[in-house]
Amino acid sequence: MSLTMHTNALSNSHLPTLFLSTNDIAAVVRARGLGPVIAGVAACIEQDFLRWGDFDKSARVANHSKDGVIELMPVSDDTTYSVKYVNGHPKNHLRHLPTVMAFGWLSRVDTGAPTLVSELTLTTAIRTAAMSCLVAKHLARPNSRTMAIIGNGAQSEFQCMGFAHVMGITHFRLFDVDAAASHKLAAHLQAAGLQATLCRDAGHACEGADIVTTVTADKTNALVIQPGMLGAGTHLNAVGGDCPGKTEIHPEVLANGRVFVEFEPQTRIEGDIQRMASDFAVTELWRVFNGTATGRSNNTEITVFDSVGFALEDYSALRYMGQAAHDLDLGQPLALIPALADPKNLFALVEDAGAGHAPALVAGVASGLQSGLSNRLGHPLSHGLTTGS
Ligand SMILES: NC(=O)c1ccc[n+]([C@@H]2O[C@H](COP(=O)([O-])OP(=O)(O)OC[C@H]3O[C@@H](n4cnc5c(N)ncnc54)[C@H](O)[C@@H]3O)[C@@H](O)[C@H]2O)c1
Repeated sequence: MSLTMHTNALSNSHLPTLFLSTNDIAAVVRARGLGPVIAGVAACIEQDFLRWGDFDKSARVANHSKDGVIELMPVSDDTTYSVKYVNGHPKNHLRHLPTVMAFGWLSRVDTGAPTLVSELTLTTAIRTAAMSCLVAKHLARPNSRTMAIIGNGAQSEFQCMGFAHVMGITHFRLFDVDAAASHKLAAHLQAAGLQATLCRDAGHACEGADIVTTVTADKTNALVIQPGMLGAGTHLNAVGGDCPGKTEIHPEVLANGRVFVEFEPQTRIEGDIQRMASDFAVTELWRVFNGTATGRSNNTEITVFDSVGFALEDYSALRYMGQAAHDLDLGQPLALIPALADPKNLFALVEDAGAGHAPALVAGVASGLQSGLSNRLGHPLSHGLTTGS
């Protein structure tokens, strides 16, 4: 599907906003298959990274708290603005909530009108797998067949299915500190016809692996991958270290590999390289994609993708899902922004159309209900106070 087709479908009308629920995104996956959807999102990400200079980019805005982080991730080009709200709370499973939850939207830059509002929890797992696979296609050895996957939670199936489809990985070596999570992942992989081996620890999982994916959730400087664990020529796809004070890779492993990043200013703050000197050498991936920087230079070097998740990947995923919803006739119109006959007459929305006059300044005055409450509070009630009391 061409870039032009995606862009046109999103910018032909201003309103109403299209809403895509988690069920709609699941319907896209059921209609097309998870592998092709991940590959499709990866193609969109690559197209957009090849236009790197067109985008207004910034590191995401993060609000940290004791148990997690809430982040806003904006990016725009001259036609479309995209933003994602996403959290990361590793203990959320104790409250029956996912660690990562997200939603976001696309707006037209020429008017600011939001064209698409979508769930992004499922879509984030898809786009993160898509980015991992795209990077591995450029950096991993092409004959890779075995992948270790350390951290077997919500993201893990998407990573594995993506690598199976895009990279031809057939054998997965699983480790999680929670054995139940590994059993869940193994069952899903086996049902998809893939081989899964349960491993006793992270070192055991890395044995014989061509690619190692770390996708753990723990708000600490963990040392999931330690010196000596990776064989020569391994590609390390380090996904779980994505916040200040939340890392997975021993600094010596980073020092002995070549490290690739999405958007350097953000990864310096959030990635595993936060533990390295500020001049530690990294390569931005858009340069590898467009051929101006070297990727893997031989079959023995260790390549590291220090993934943190960049706003442009969500822009790409949103435009893929927007186009898919259009093609498959999914989604609902969302009355988020008022459609007005006279855009200067916002007041028309609150006029009583039947009575043909403006609403009462104070709700319920006519019935005498509010006047009693107002007397007790000592001031007139606004609508806000009424609903909040
Ligand atoms: N880089 C990105 O773009 C990106 C995108 C999405 C999620 N993430 C990150 O990926 C991580 C996983 O997300 P999720 O939604 O799968 O979370 P999750 O909570 O569903 O799963 C995480 C798993 O990691 C396991 N774990 C924790 N510490 C471990 C350790 N030391 N060794 C082995 N296993 C360990 C947990 O038991 C859990 O099963 C999170 O840290 C999240 O912030 C990154």
